[in-house]
Amino acid sequence: MAKIRRIGILTSGGDCPGLNAAIRGVAKPLLEEGVQIIGIQDGFRGLVENRTMQLGPRETSGLLVEGGTILGTSRFKPHKYPDRNGGFEDRTKDAVENYHKMRLDALVCIGGGGTHKNAFQLYQNGIPHIVTLPKTIDNDVFGTDVTFGYDTGMSIACDAIDRLHTTASSHHRCMLVDVMGHNTGWLAMGAGIAGGADVILIPEFPFSLDRVVDALIERERRNKRFSIVVVAEGAHSLEEADLRKDMDKKDLKDRDRAYCDSLSHDLARIIEDRVKIETRITTLGHLQRGGIPTARDRVLASRMGTLAADQILRREFGVMVAERNNLIVPVPLDEVVGKKKYITPDNGLVRTASRLGVSLGRPR
Ligand code: F6P
Repeated sequence: MAKIRRIGILTSGGDCPGLNAAIRGVAKPLLEEGVQIIGIQDGFRGLVENRTMQLGPRETSGLLVEGGTILGTSRFKPHKYPDRNGGFEDRTKDAVENYHKMRLDALVCIGGGGTHKNAFQLYQNGIPHIVTLPKTIDNDVFGTDVTFGYDTGMSIACDAIDRLHTTASSHHRCMLVDVMGHNTGWLAMGAGIAGGADVILIPEFPFSLDRVVDALIERERRNKRFSIVVVAEGAHSLEEADLRKDMDKKDLKDRDRAYCDSLSHDLARIIEDRVKIETRITTLGHLQRGGIPTARDRVLASRMGTLAADQILRREFGVMVAERNNLIVPVPLDEVVGKKKYITPDNGLVRTASRLGVSLGRPR
């Protein structure tokens, strides 16, 4: 069986702390085996445009604590690639040709749900030697208990919420914290519970405005000095969910963008009017994706990266490296592609929030 001599690595989608730790985890064991590591720049864009950088011992040392990705990233898709006329074209052929021009024996793709879809397309169309790693602060990649990036994103958001407690208490205010998580509420739920939020609103559970207002009025009745409301950027009301039922994809996308941009502001005004408490908004945005990874994310990224290296040395491809019950295991790509991991009503975090008296805005 031919020896593995050169492999490519790319990082794609929204960046997150831990990406460089994962690159290091893949590279170090393979460099020890004399395998050359080719870094492909800016995600799948670099594969289509043949833009690479050598990743030797020098380039991969010190990566463990470096945030972001030294390779750069993008949300480009080979099979739906922007053309010069503002449209899209299929550039899968160029990606596959460049893979062979680079003389690669395998490709590691590190990313979220979209990255796994792109990787699976390439896996089915000319690049069979693919291994993927699941990253995102959203923790919404199906098939793995957790993604690296999630612990750091949650810790950043929790630190912000901790800080907001003191100013909220000083001013007797309601602080509304807008966190990332367009499709799922893992980040909002984790940071909200860790940060002692009183209300947590997530995309999976369309909220009743009356229930949110009642929960905050009840806190006032109990003479609580302040309230903290954590809102995932993709959360929406029951009325909004109703409106969306009959919308087509394009209308839904346009409406979703406008609704998400104004949700926190509209909610803050309603809380001020109906709960009679001064309300202020903090939008954490890309802060949750910045800076150095937590120890937990460094360990997880290293565990996943080194298993990816072993998968390649064993020539076992077509898999995503996942964490399941604290074990790092390969999962067939076709089992995870095109799915998201949502918070369900029976999830332990939902039960914990409820037992703590946190309102999720759910109708009775
Ligand atoms: O996918 C991770 C994420 O941070 C989401 O939580 C967020 O909605 C999105 O990326 C933001 O994307 P961009 O960085 O392209 O604006």
